Amino acid sequence: MNEGKKTVFGYMPDGVPVEEVLLTDGAISCGIITYGGALRSLTVPDRNGQPVDVALGFDTLEAYLAQDKYIGAIIGRYANRIGGSRFALDGKEYPLRSNDGANHLHGGPEGFDKQVWRIRAQTRNSVTLSLNSPDGQEGYPGTLDVTATYTLADRALEIVYQAKSSRTTLCNLTSHAYFNLSGHGSGSIESHQFRLSASRYTPADENLIPTGAIESVKGTPMDLRQLQPLGAREYDHNWVIDGWNSALVPAALAWSPDTGIYMETLTTLPGIQFYTGNFLDGCPEGKGGAAYGRHGAFCLETQYFPDSPNHSRFPSAVLQVGEIYESKTAYYFDTEFKTG
Ligand code: GAL
Repeated sequence: MNEGKKTVFGYMPDGVPVEEVLLTDGAISCGIITYGGALRSLTVPDRNGQPVDVALGFDTLEAYLAQDKYIGAIIGRYANRIGGSRFALDGKEYPLRSNDGANHLHGGPEGFDKQVWRIRAQTRNSVTLSLNSPDGQEGYPGTLDVTATYTLADRALEIVYQAKSSRTTLCNLTSHAYFNLSGHGSGSIESHQFRLSASRYTPADENLIPTGAIESVKGTPMDLRQLQPLGAREYDHNWVIDGWNSALVPAALAWSPDTGIYMETLTTLPGIQFYTGNFLDGCPEGKGGAAYGRHGAFCLETQYFPDSPNHSRFPSAVLQVGEIYESKTAYYFDTEFKTG
């Protein structure tokens, strides 16, 4: 196997090669491609020690180019939506390119998920990718230099994001990895159980733009503080993580009763989008001919809150010139639950 080595995964229409790096650590391995900096596979042991690939991905670059689901990609410059595709910074209005009706989604039509990242460093269990986003790209001010480092260690996949801008700008980076802990091609996640460490969430309108309120989950279907089966419910909301203090705190737990695999998500960020793959229908064929449809996977996107530049009560995603943006998210894998 080409552990820690890179192979050519495909070629962009303009001939630029897209590479894949395979990382391993103990019984966990993953593949990262430079197109969108995307996680293409993530293999972890089930309760019997058998390997299960829990991340959605495609066999060909052509499938990545054909899909519009952000499968596995790193999202930037601003994860999730900005209402009306505009924001103001230091008294100046910045119009952004729209790609979700009148709104701006996941950094715009040519966001970081559509860019070919560079491999800056790699070892057996870690890779650092970088991207240079020019001043004005998709409407954002400042040239943004971004790195994303994926590391497999201690049963976890950790992603560290860093960025620096030549002008004050917005920065909100996340991973759009899609998970199915029963196996990437195993169909609906309705038997999965979920828990979110969040007593509050940000209600949104019918276009998924936050109203600006921060409300208690108590007595609502948003209360996922106790582990519970998903069943027929679907979600696509931002929760406010309890105990956010810029250190790594537990934000979510997901568990498959089929394989016994659970995934704990920890992050330094204030919010988490729990998305149950509601728009997965129409996805191209997945790895090994797998069918990916509605509710066939979930995402736990750690983030600043959607539309935060337009809501003064939300934590600020403004990156000042000269400042370094840094955030960390870890997905920890094990089987069943430890008591105590
Ligand atoms: C999610 C978002 C969904 C949808 C999806 C991509 O992050 O919350 O509303 O846009 O990405 O299909």
